[in-house]
Amino acid sequence: MFPTFASLLSSLALLQCAQASPTGATPDKSINKRAVTPVLSAASQVATASYPYWNRDSCTSVRVQYREFWTCRDSAGQGGQFYSSTASWSDFNNGPLITNGQLYLYGDDNGEYFKNQPDECQAGSNSGNCMNGTRYAIWPDSPPLPVAGSNNAVKLYTWIIKSYLNNDLSPITKNPATSLYRSDYNPANQGVSKTLPPVTLVNENFWPAQSIPYGSYGWAISPDGKTAYLYGQLNNGTANLGAALARVPINSIEDKSQYSYYNNGGWSSTAPSLTSTSARIANAGTNGQGTFYYSSYFSSYMWLGADSINIGSGFYVATAPIPEGPWTSPILFYNGTNGNASLGAYSQQAHPGLTSSNGGGNDIYLTFSKNDKDAANSSHITTTHPLIHVIWN
Ligand SMILES: *[C@@H]1O[C@H](CO)[C@@H](O)[C@H](O)[C@H]1NC(C)=O
Ligand SMILES: *[C@@H]1O[C@H](CO)[C@@H](O)[C@H](O)[C@H]1NC(C)=O
Ligand SMILES: *[C@@H]1O[C@H](CO)[C@@H](O)[C@H](O)[C@H]1NC(C)=O
Ligand SMILES: *[C@@H]1O[C@H](CO)[C@@H](O)[C@H](O)[C@H]1NC(C)=O
Ligand SMILES: *[C@@H]1O[C@H](CO)[C@@H](O)[C@H](O)[C@H]1NC(C)=O
Repeated sequence: MFPTFASLLSSLALLQCAQASPTGATPDKSINKRAVTPVLSAASQVATASYPYWNRDSCTSVRVQYREFWTCRDSAGQGGQFYSSTASWSDFNNGPLITNGQLYLYGDDNGEYFKNQPDECQAGSNSGNCMNGTRYAIWPDSPPLPVAGSNNAVKLYTWIIKSYLNNDLSPITKNPATSLYRSDYNPANQGVSKTLPPVTLVNENFWPAQSIPYGSYGWAISPDGKTAYLYGQLNNGTANLGAALARVPINSIEDKSQYSYYNNGGWSSTAPSLTSTSARIANAGTNGQGTFYYSSYFSSYMWLGADSINIGSGFYVATAPIPEGPWTSPILFYNGTNGNASLGAYSQQAHPGLTSSNGGGNDIYLTFSKNDKDAANSSHITTTHPLIHVIWN
């Protein structure tokens, strides 16, 4: 029952977030940089990203030193656990280390990774279940943002919307606050084996309720490594209205006074309101799930992800010379194979950290969540993550 529940929750929550498409933009001819349209050369499924103990939903990842660090949403363990998030590692050996067709996502199996807080039904049970049909679903939607420290230490930042949901998955609180979590990777302590970087809650209300949840829709780091660009979706209470953009010096992620915000074609120290369509960056994502990153191969910022409807395994790509755009209209470049359960595929993600150039070369890895009915019991659903290797022209 748990895997079905997990998958259903995530999928329907995604649908709630995907009701509107941004309007297309007219490219600004005055910007003197080329807009790149990547062309697929080859794509094939090379493995399944998985670990037998966990049935995990919606996974993202980032390179941390010599391994890939993963965060996933609803995770059902063979011991009966059900957590809103788990984290894990995968290994490399001239590319992702594939054993028996699996890229193993291994980790310490103890407990939820991003913990629910006391006001998020922490006490009720695991996974934010409030025991009365409501739930605080603390779901990481974007990969942890890495900030290098000394001696190979890395701070990993994740912005998570404090979703509070009814039993039917409709939001009880529309546009709640967004929490900022930090995972502290220290190679001396977490550089080996299953140990995961410990998590600290930096600020439970980093972005207050009814403000733009920058960082939850994705992020990219400038090629010089100095600036973090954070995307968050505008929303008018019933629909997402496209992505807005904030930026901050990479070493000041926790300092709100260091942020600036893009609006009306310029940068300001004042954040636009959640409904400000003047802050919308057309085509910076489709409102569907995906991943932003910078590619030195294309000299472009990239967005790879789902179409706005979100059920399916189609992958779209949009690019921009600078994070503010103009972004190219997202185009379909690859279709995966949907699972045979009713919610067969969703949560498209790209994994630049899995490539040998950490996203800078002519290739990229993709995953999506694929739901299949078990052969022996069609009421039981298993979620897997096909790992697809894409080569660009
Ligand atoms: C089939 O799967 C469902 C959902 O997990 C479970 O409730 C049921 O007990 C399973 N049936 C059998 C015969 O194992
Ligand atoms: C459900 O429980 C939570 C946590 O105790 C509470 O805040 C909320 O008001 C309850 N909702 C209903 C409908 O009883
Ligand atoms: C929100 O935006 C959507 C899409 O543009 C629109 O259909 C809807 O009427 C808007 N709702 C409100 C409350 O403004
Ligand atoms: C490919 O995926 C897109 C988006 O999910 C979908 O609209 C289209 O029907 C798919 N095409 C095939 C052949 O499955
Ligand atoms: C669904 O797909 C799974 C995984 O490939 C397979 O084991 C199962 O038999 C399929 N079930 C149906 C009803 O097609």
